[in-house]
Amino acid sequence: MGKKSSATAAAAASAKGAPAIDIGIDEKERRQIADALSRALADTYTLYLQTHGFHWNVEGPLFSTLHQMFMEQYTEMWTALDDIAERIRALGFPAPASYAALSKLSSVPDVDDVPEAMQMVRTLVAGHETLARTTRAALRVADEADDDSSADLMTQRLQVHEKTAWMLRSMLK
Ligand SMILES: [Fe+2]
Repeated sequence: MGKKSSATAAAAASAKGAPAIDIGIDEKERRQIADALSRALADTYTLYLQTHGFHWNVEGPLFSTLHQMFMEQYTEMWTALDDIAERIRALGFPAPASYAALSKLSSVPDVDDVPEAMQMVRTLVAGHETLARTTRAALRVADEADDDSSADLMTQRLQVHEKTAWMLRSMLK
């Protein structure tokens, strides 16, 4: 290690606390992206819970098929929640993590009753289409700020929700 780099390392080591975020996206844009990702997180959380509830409560001749399919869908969304929340953290903002905060941000309506099986499927089509709109909006915000990491994550989520909406919709024909 040369003299100059030792001096730089020593200066960095002696600085107190965490350095400011310097990833090439300014704070205003990072906040806008974090807000858009928080809406995607809230919608995903609400749809995750709705899908898990339908997994528990579905009845009828298609019980086995729907029970299994809903499990695959809620498991996929549960994993995605962590990726979205941790991206918000990497941008320097707290991830919403209470029912109050999530419900304020969510545009997926709560379902309090237990619909019949095919009504559950219709409700989930609407939920995944809402997620497609929310993640597409977040993708635009990330794109405008050259935030490729967030744009990539939102592109992946958009693909999942559009595909799931198609698969669920196909059961209703
Ligand atoms: Fe289960």
